[in-house]
Order: sequence, then structure tokens, then C-alpha cells
Amino acid sequence: MGSFKTLKDFFIKHKWYYIIGIVWLLIVDIVQLIVPQILKTVTDLLEQELLTTSELLKYAGYIILTGLVIGLGRYFWRIYIQGTSRKLEYYIRNKLFQHLQTLSTNYFNRHKTGDLMAHGTEDINRIRTALGPGIVMITDAIFMTVAVLFMMIKTTNFKLAILALIPLPFLAITVGKFGKIIFKRSKLVQESFSDLSDKVQENFSGIRVVKSFVQEKQEIEKFTESNQRNFSANMHLIKIHGLFDPMVNFISALSYLIVIWYGGTLVIRGTISLGDFVAFTSYLGLLVWPMMALGFVINILQRGAASMDRINTILGENPEIYDHENIIDKTNIQGEIEFNNVSFKYPSSNEYALKDVSFKIPKGSTLGIVGRTGSGKTTIVNLLLRLFEIDEGEILVDDIQSSKIPLKTLREHIGYVSQDNFLFSNSIKSNIAFAFETEVEDSRVHEAAKISEVYDNIMEFPEQFETELGERGVTLSGGQRQRTAMARAIIKNPNILILDDSLSAVDTQTEERILSNLKNVMEDRTNIIIAHRISTVKNSDEIIVLDEGKIIERGTHEELLKVNGLYRDIYEKQLLEEKLKNE
Ligand SMILES: Nc1ncnc2c1ncn2[C@@H]1O[C@H](COP(=O)(O)OP(=O)(O)O)[C@@H](O)[C@H]1O
Ligand SMILES: [Mg+2]
Repeated sequence: MGSFKTLKDFFIKHKWYYIIGIVWLLIVDIVQLIVPQILKTVTDLLEQELLTTSELLKYAGYIILTGLVIGLGRYFWRIYIQGTSRKLEYYIRNKLFQHLQTLSTNYFNRHKTGDLMAHGTEDINRIRTALGPGIVMITDAIFMTVAVLFMMIKTTNFKLAILALIPLPFLAITVGKFGKIIFKRSKLVQESFSDLSDKVQENFSGIRVVKSFVQEKQEIEKFTESNQRNFSANMHLIKIHGLFDPMVNFISALSYLIVIWYGGTLVIRGTISLGDFVAFTSYLGLLVWPMMALGFVINILQRGAASMDRINTILGENPEIYDHENIIDKTNIQGEIEFNNVSFKYPSSNEYALKDVSFKIPKGSTLGIVGRTGSGKTTIVNLLLRLFEIDEGEILVDDIQSSKIPLKTLREHIGYVSQDNFLFSNSIKSNIAFAFETEVEDSRVHEAAKISEVYDNIMEFPEQFETELGERGVTLSGGQRQRTAMARAIIKNPNILILDDSLSAVDTQTEERILSNLKNVMEDRTNIIIAHRISTVKNSDEIIVLDEGKIIERGTHEELLKVNGLYRDIYEKQLLEEKLKNE
């Protein structure tokens, strides 16, 4: 049970909840043990014809009283034990999410979202089951078994008790075995169902592609197949479930058979009273659950421990990128950037994504980066933001090695418009004001939207800045997304602004307006503009041309046009395209 050490703090803090819960559980168990004694007394008195109606009422009253105490006790142990296990679930889930937020982007590249989701749901669920219902089962299995056995021997005799108990260990074993099979098959059901829902989700998201390629029929076939697998998995599970109850009943019936046969004989012989016999059968009934619990609990604890190990692995994962000890206490950034002979390979790759890259961007100036897809443009930004750590060379910001600047300071002062323009399912306003913890004045949000030329579009939506995006909201066009993402970076008022291919889906006129808006606001800022279109970067103070991770050309627009290289090549092609478009 070493796996659960991670939860020590939680247990220490909540030990009284567990203790009180277990005490209630034991009270219920003890009261349950009294009931057969009442039955025994009543039966014996009835047999000896000594029972008056008023006495009968008294015993009936006792039965009702035990029922009330049992009911009350069950309520309280549920609240204290199950309730605490829910709190535990809440605690681990928070802990896991908080930890995952500290891990580097690279961790998320290496792990599938679906797997991380499964850890956050199924694994945590199994831990909760082990430490909620699991605890109840252990307590019942141990206490009830011993106590009932004791009462059985006390009421009748040792031999009857032993004989009646012979089949019961098989009950525990059967439940354990069945439990394993049921778990396996339920897992298959779960998997086939999540496969089914993935398929449907993808189909709905891609419905326009499906329709335009007239693939509805094939999609229906694929769905039916997947649905069929889910159905078969369910049938597979039902079959074993169907066997489970009869098996349990059969084994406990064997015990009753022994009791009726041998116990009956004892009553006839007068060794035990009829009341003893009634009490004994009723104790036997009380043993069935603890035996089943014994079978269940081993599996539940094993699974809980395995899940806990998986969660522990994640919690033990150290962030690859963090503030080292030699950090400099720096809370502001002016914006001068320098790359010196930076070479870099992605952790998952053997090839250099950047090779010996050097450039300097003085504060207040603009660097343009052009190059084919995959040439390393975004990688430069990833390294500047320290989303990945560099292998060779150095990156200086304000003449300080970027690894010595607190991550928070570094990232807070960079306004980054990423290539994927990811927006959250939230209002447009919240998306633009994403960087702020507190409420942001509307005027600031509006101003940022005006600079990125998306204000007019937003005002045309029925709910304007309160318009919800995403699944349940409106879908923005590619260009609108880019400009909204840009507003999100601009509102931060960053000293460094990075546009990674952020104007590609915007027409050239709008692009020109955005760039001229930016010029006014960004005068004192350092800018990195990555683009496919030459028109986007042509006014930059310096432009570098990347190819296969190397800088192959550099200079101003005019200088680069004089070189008969890739830059000029791209420029001429794009001029031609523009011309063709306008004709
Ligand atoms: N997270 C990553 N892991 C491994 N390789 C990557 C990763 N991101 C990019 N690459 C690779 O690094 C190279 C440069 O990519 P990138 O900087 O994104 O190019 P660009 O932005 O110029 O299109 C490409 O070969 C790409 O496949
Ligand atoms: Mg890129």
C-alpha cells in the first residue's frame, strides 16, 4: 500500500472523518448482530407459548428500533466515508491538474490528451473506490466475519458453524474471480464506447468534408461496425453478469442446505432450540455480504494501487523547464533580443531544427522572418519563449541569458500570436482579456480589437464582445480568429510582440491597415514578424531568410532583392500571384 503515501497529508487531515465513519459502520454491524437474538427470543417464547401480545409488541418495537439505528448509521457512515472519498477525489484531481500545468509543452507532445484525460477520470475513480467503498468492505469483511462467527458458535455449537461455513470461502473466491472478469469486460465496453463517441465526434466536426466527398454511406457503415462492436462488448459483459448472481445464490444456498439438514436434526434431537436455529440461519444471511466484500476488496485495492502508481508517476514528473537557482530578480523586460549561434534539436527528433542561428534585434526594431514551411521559424519563437530549452549557443534578452530571467517575467512581457490561433470556448471579450486575472475595462478590449482590425466584425455579431465562441457559440473565419488572437496579445501591451504567420488568412488591404496600426502602438517595442507573404515583412528593419534551420540570407527588403536568392524568388512569385488575382 506504499502507493498511497502521496495522500498522507490528506489522511492526516481527514483522519477523524474516517474514524467517525468506521465507528458508525461498526455500530451498524453490531446492531445487525442483535436482530437474530431478538428473533431467537421471540421464536423460543412462541414455541413455549409464553408470548403475550404486549410482549410481542415490545419485540416488534425492538426490531423497529434496530432498523432506525441501522438506517441512521448507514446514513452517517456514507457521509463520513464515501463523502470523504469524494473529497479525496476532488483533492487528487486538483493536485494532478495543478501539477500538469507546471509541466513543459514537450510533456504534452509526448502524451496523448486522451490518456491524460483517462488518468484524471478512470484512475482517480479507482483510487476513490479503493479508499471509500474499499474501506467499508475491509471493515465489514474483517469485523462482520469474526463477529458473526463468534455469535454463531455462541448461539449454537462449533460443529454446525464450521459445517455451514464450508461453502463460504468459495463465495469469496468466486466473487474475486468474477470481479476480475467483469472488470476486464467492462473495460472493453468502455473502450468500445469511447471509440464510438470519438468516431461520431470526428464525423460531426468533419461533416462538411464527409458531405462534399459524398462519404455518408461509408461513414454510416463505419459507424454501424463500431456500434456493433460496442453491442457485442455489452453482450459479453451481460453474460458474465448474468452468471454472477446465480453463482452467488447457489453457493450461499449450499450453506443453507447444510444448516437446514444438520441444524434441523439438532433441533429435532433437542440439542439446540428452534430459536437458536432461526437465529443461526439469520446470522448466515449476515455472512454473505462480508464474504462477497472479501472477494471484491482485493481487486478494488489492487486496481486502486495500480491507478495510484500511474498518478504518482505523473506527479513525480519534473518540469523540464523551470527557474534555476541562479535566477536574476528581474520583473521588467526592455526587449532587446539576441541569438548567438543557437542550434537546436527537438527532443523527439535527431535532426537539427535550427543550426547556428545568430541575430540581434535592438529594442524598438522589427525582425522579419521568412522561409518555407518547416524551415524553423516557429522554433525560433519556441526557444525565445523557453517552451523548449536550447542545446547549443545562447539566447540573450536585455543582455541577460534568457534562462536566468524568471519564466514569469519573460513570458509576461512577450505578446505572442501563435500560428494555430487557439481560442477558448468562451466570450470574445474573455478571449481577448485572457492574460488578465481581473476584469478588464471594455475600452481596452475594444482598442486592442481596433488595432487588430477585428472590431467591426465583432460589432456585427448579435452579442458583440459577449458573443460565445466554440462548440456552443459562433465559428469565426480563419482571418477573424487570427485577428482576435492578435488582439489577445496586443492588449498585454508587451515590450516584445511576436506574430507567427498571423496575417496569412487576412487579405492584403487589411494586413496593411493592421501593420500601420501596429506601427503607431508598437513604436518602442521589439517585434518579430514571421510570414509567408513578403508584403508582411518588407518594412522590417532586418529580414532573415531561413532554410532547413539555417539563415541563408539576411538584410533589408531592398538589400535582399538585390541578392538573387530565395527571398527574391518568393517575392517575384508572389507579385505574379497578386497580378493574376487582380486581373
Ligand atoms: N514539437 C516538435 N517536435 C519535433 N519536431 C518538431 C516539433 N515542432 C517542429 N518540429 C520540426 O522542426 C522543424 C521546424 O519546424 P517549425 O519551426 O515549426 O517550422 P516553420 O515554423 O518554419 O514552419 C520541422 O522539421 C518540424 O517538423
Ligand atoms: Mg511555423
